[in-house]
Amino acid sequence: MIGIFDSGLGGLTALKEARLLFPKEDLVYFGDTGRVPYGTRSEETIRAYALQDLRFLTSFPIRAAVVACGTVSTTSLPALRGAFDLPIFGVVEGAAIAAAKATKNRRVAVIGTPATVRSGAFPEAIRQAYGALTGNADGVEIISRACPLFVPLVENGFIEKDDPITALTCERYLADIREFGADTLILGCTHYPIIADAISKTLPGVTLINTGREAARLVREKLPPIPEEKGEARFFVSDRTDSFASVASVFLGSKPENVTRIDIGSY
Ligand code: DGL
Repeated sequence: MIGIFDSGLGGLTALKEARLLFPKEDLVYFGDTGRVPYGTRSEETIRAYALQDLRFLTSFPIRAAVVACGTVSTTSLPALRGAFDLPIFGVVEGAAIAAAKATKNRRVAVIGTPATVRSGAFPEAIRQAYGALTGNADGVEIISRACPLFVPLVENGFIEKDDPITALTCERYLADIREFGADTLILGCTHYPIIADAISKTLPGVTLINTGREAARLVREKLPPIPEEKGEARFFVSDRTDSFASVASVFLGSKPENVTRIDIGSY
């Protein structure tokens, strides 16, 4: 069993990929929908929330955890790894490697929450990955932008490709990246792939790196062979289950059946 968590729906982007890569493994997902967004909060608050989230997931017999949240991955991984004795994967490393491989013009953009951008973790990891690939860590130019409104747009279901509000928000946030001329964009928040079509409309021809997907791939690469389980997925949230299930169904392609509300404050 693998545990996956995020501040809300975004981590489903990792779960979707994990389902494909680990078809026989049970998955347990926690979305902290009662406290989303994390990305506009302080590092201390994010860390405290993340510790509770993982404490909840470790009440299941999980063999590894995926921090399917860019904000937690860039601010709290050392604290989580220090507190729990199991393999914990974040979303930064896999995405940075994928971006270093994908860029042709050596211009990479990163978008994420304010906390993620403030951390500088993605640019650092991209330089490291690019250096490992080419021997010249400084041979890549990077631009980072925070896009805080994308998360509430996703959580509230403004996810259609042609939604005018999402399109306008994309234009406002991504115009600088178009001007910079990046050919590769890391969606450094796991919520963003859910509006990938709208982002691509604003930045045509740019390769989008889905952090959740890359994290699941890295887990596949690093974890030993998969146990034969039932391949079930259970979902837990910290607020209303109906709104989670309806947005999740658009993204996952079918309505998640097993959604339960929990009191995360008690963990
Ligand atoms: N999915 C998140 C991330 O990857 C969270 C966004 C938020 O809660 O602000 O950063």
